[in-house]
Amino acid sequence: MCGIIGCSLHDNSKYNILSQLAKLEYRGYDSCGVTDLINNQFFTFKSTNRISDLKNKKTTLSNLSIAHTRWATHGNVSTKNAHPILSNNGNYSIVHNGIIENYDKLKEVYLSAFRFITETDTEVIVNLFEYFCKTNDEIDSLYILSKLLKGSYAFIILDKKSDNMYFMKNKSPLIIGKGQDIIIASDILAFDKNVSSYYRLNDFEYGYIKNNKVFLYHNNKQIKPSFISFIYSNYNNQLNGYNHYMEKEIYETKDLLKKQIDFKFDSDIINLINSSKRIILIASGTSYHAGLLGSYFFNHLSNIESSAYIACEFEYFDYYNSDDLFIVISQSGETADLIKIVNILKNHNHNILSITNSIINTISTLSSKNINIDAGIEIAVASTKTYTLSSFILYKLACIKNNLYDKRSVINCIAELDNIYNSTDIYKDLAKSIYKNKNLFFLGSGYDNLICKEASLKLKEISYIHSESMSCGELKHGSISLITKDFPVIYFISDNGYKNTLNSIEELKSRHAKVYIISTNNVEIESDIKVSSTNDLLSFIPFSIVLQFISYYTALLLNNDIDKPRNLAKSVTVL
Ligand code: G6P
Repeated sequence: MCGIIGCSLHDNSKYNILSQLAKLEYRGYDSCGVTDLINNQFFTFKSTNRISDLKNKKTTLSNLSIAHTRWATHGNVSTKNAHPILSNNGNYSIVHNGIIENYDKLKEVYLSAFRFITETDTEVIVNLFEYFCKTNDEIDSLYILSKLLKGSYAFIILDKKSDNMYFMKNKSPLIIGKGQDIIIASDILAFDKNVSSYYRLNDFEYGYIKNNKVFLYHNNKQIKPSFISFIYSNYNNQLNGYNHYMEKEIYETKDLLKKQIDFKFDSDIINLINSSKRIILIASGTSYHAGLLGSYFFNHLSNIESSAYIACEFEYFDYYNSDDLFIVISQSGETADLIKIVNILKNHNHNILSITNSIINTISTLSSKNINIDAGIEIAVASTKTYTLSSFILYKLACIKNNLYDKRSVINCIAELDNIYNSTDIYKDLAKSIYKNKNLFFLGSGYDNLICKEASLKLKEISYIHSESMSCGELKHGSISLITKDFPVIYFISDNGYKNTLNSIEELKSRHAKVYIISTNNVEIESDIKVSSTNDLLSFIPFSIVLQFISYYTALLLNNDIDKPRNLAKSVTVL
């Protein structure tokens, strides 16, 4: 989703901010833009294409710049709506991430004399800033804005006259990196090697950057930011011979799992699990599917009652207790739906254990304890390695109570992954059989049904083929009406005991559906794809790689933009 960045260099050296903006590409975007401030003049370039296109258009360099990747919310994808956006008098230029919920009302009350060029809520912010600056200084104006704006936002405003770079945030992330130069951005990934310390802004903090110094305020009082030291690591963002990041990330899973085999949880986390009567897992998208597996593991391995909820639905359920443990899972740690729930839980003093793929993010900062998935940056929008890794972490957590962690089975299971990595022809064949279809079912029972949910989401995300995941037994209660000759149905089977699955296969074969079976080698059934699993509950490891490959090769045949699927964002920072 939108990424913002501002760079203020310590001297007059020139800088191409777009190299840093490119590090935010992974968040997902549909247009981008940049403004350089040179001798009190703005030079703005925009593109409804990729940052590489913007690089070709940009003809200036500056030591003061702001830039943006936009994921359209208010107003269509167009050069006009791309940021940076100017205020009416042309003095201020803004980049913004988030949504201003009351922008219409504010426009009506304060800005009737203003002319609007874009359809964005962002233009309201920058014009409000101009409006209040007529009678207040800029810092007081930001304070007024902090009281008026409703919604989520992080923005940076460049002032043409003073060279000041103003900023403010609520809910959306904003981090200041300091070193020789100052970089302020949505994500630390946008920092460069000169950054030696960082400060993560709290909600409603605001301020400005001038002459390479940061001035910070909260509620009209100046405060001192406490910078934390930062060691830059240039994440490996090269494809290293792979065709797509998704492909590369699927292959990275094996070594990342190996790294986790001996990982020890700290004693506070072990105590949290051991003392829990009930565990509630909350997440969105693929992380929710890891959460579903997690709740299955807690129920089966530790006899701790557990259930998983989709983050955006959780507030509609209120049957939880004060001594429940909440485990929240988020690759990015920035998903707005989940942040909202974490804030509610925190305000009620609940224990929150988060599982995120970095330590510097909003969700880990808000939670009582955090586990770092430590999978390295995941660039492809569709999650792969972090799904398998977070599911594995949940498996290990569920083994704690009854001491059930069987390292030998895990080692063997991971070792078997080579066979899967070396069998890509089988996934390509399956992809060839399904890629022309418009609809598809993934069916499974029990544990396998949870795998099917992720298989279906993955396929939808990158192939755009409509698919549904369903429990085998439930299909006959309605959805079987969709089954016609050659309707493709993919089964996942990890357990001989799933009688419903076997019945369902017969029911669909007799209706001439096109049935594909993916099973573990301990299931006695003829299958299109067989995987080895040393333990039924670990089947998610080989299955996850297989389901990811099937989606990947299907999307490849369809010529889709695999790493940046349409409409999707990696980090969904709006509600
Ligand atoms: C977005 C992405 C999904 C992802 C979900 C949750 O919708 O497109 O792929 O699963 O967010 O992301 P999180 O960072 O919270 O795991």
